[in-house]
Amino acid sequence: MTDMIPQALLDFLPCRTPQAWIDAAAENNEILLIDHAQCEKKAASTAMHLLFKYVDRPELLTKMSQLAREELLHFEQVVTLMQERGIDYSRLSASRYAEGLRQHVRGNEPGRLVDILVVGAFIEARSCERFASLIPFLDEGLARYYRTLLKSEARHFEDYLTLARSYAEEDIAPRIQFFGEKERLLIESPDPEFRFHSGVLVTSGA
Ligand SMILES: [Fe+2]
Ligand SMILES: [Fe+2]
Repeated sequence: MTDMIPQALLDFLPCRTPQAWIDAAAENNEILLIDHAQCEKKAASTAMHLLFKYVDRPELLTKMSQLAREELLHFEQVVTLMQERGIDYSRLSASRYAEGLRQHVRGNEPGRLVDILVVGAFIEARSCERFASLIPFLDEGLARYYRTLLKSEARHFEDYLTLARSYAEEDIAPRIQFFGEKERLLIESPDPEFRFHSGVLVTSGA
């Protein structure tokens, strides 16, 4: 399914999702869907937060407003899918991933905004790559739905990256490199919890 992912997105990510995560996801569709719903809601919330904070950036207002609406639509779709499958929307702890990236965001503007946008690009790119990697291991209904999400997540990745470039005072390549190293660790290192953006699951007693 790699051919469904834009090359620029694959080049941006520091690594592919490990097969061990894909295997865990195939066995944990319930947690996958609940956490996926959480991710869509959080993606909308992040975009809304930017709408409140950066009212003087017209392009950001347009893109983030569109993005928030799309993420909420995805949220609704995932919740419907869960209901169809009889999956209860139980509370789940957040994965370490987003916070693991955001903790490195700089404090001063415009570096702060640029970093938030670069982190947004990583989250969207990884989501897209994970949807594509998962498709061959899912039942037909879920695979069909995830295929429809690929394109929008790839577009969200592009939007974040374009905004980051336009607001930066310098080349953002070093920031991409910096966050890419953090991202690789979060994706490749052992993680006690399985979540949509988790690392490699450590099974207790193994
Ligand atoms: Fe989404
Ligand atoms: Fe998205």
